[in-house]
Amino acid sequence: MLSVVVLISGSGSNLLALLKAAENPLYPVKIVAVGSDKDAPGLEHAELFEIDTFVVQPERFSDRNQWGQALLANVLHHQPDLVVLAGFMKILPEGFVSALSGKLINTHPSLLPEFKGAHAVRDALQAGASKTGVTIHFVDAGVDTGPVIVQEELQIIPGESEAQLHERIKEIERALLVRTVENIALGKIK
Ligand code: GAR
Repeated sequence: MLSVVVLISGSGSNLLALLKAAENPLYPVKIVAVGSDKDAPGLEHAELFEIDTFVVQPERFSDRNQWGQALLANVLHHQPDLVVLAGFMKILPEGFVSALSGKLINTHPSLLPEFKGAHAVRDALQAGASKTGVTIHFVDAGVDTGPVIVQEELQIIPGESEAQLHERIKEIERALLVRTVENIALGKIK
């Protein structure tokens, strides 16, 4: 069983997909805790599934390194084999990333290295791209720069809104994340 901590900032639909997958005893993953940088709506999913939650808000610390250390302490308390950033929208300090090197993955709504950052869906539309997609990657010290594990692309429909496109991306993303975490648990991805 792979023990997983999931970090979120938003609605947590990717988290919910993982929680539902992990209800199946044949899925080799246990979600041991869910953390956030804020009182994110998605924390409710964890509470419904009776999973521990923690919130570590950057505003409560005098600098981001201290925040990163406090967040790290909460994560390590649960002794995870893997930490999944699933819509976690804060850039993590280097100390946090290096402490979890090789055990920290992120899901991002574009075909990296295209459209890094917090507005990947909007940026793809504004650039007039004809396709975009999802990338799941290991996290390194840069922003959305770590080694790619898997990508899946989709065509952009002319005239669709950012919200419509993001929802179509997330449908693919949830399935891809569930499968990728399973493949990590099975040792198919190192
Ligand atoms: C997901 O599309 C994820 O890729 C994106 O936030 C969304 C969270 O959705 N993350 C980023 O943009 C990180 N740069 P969710 O809260 O419904 O899972």
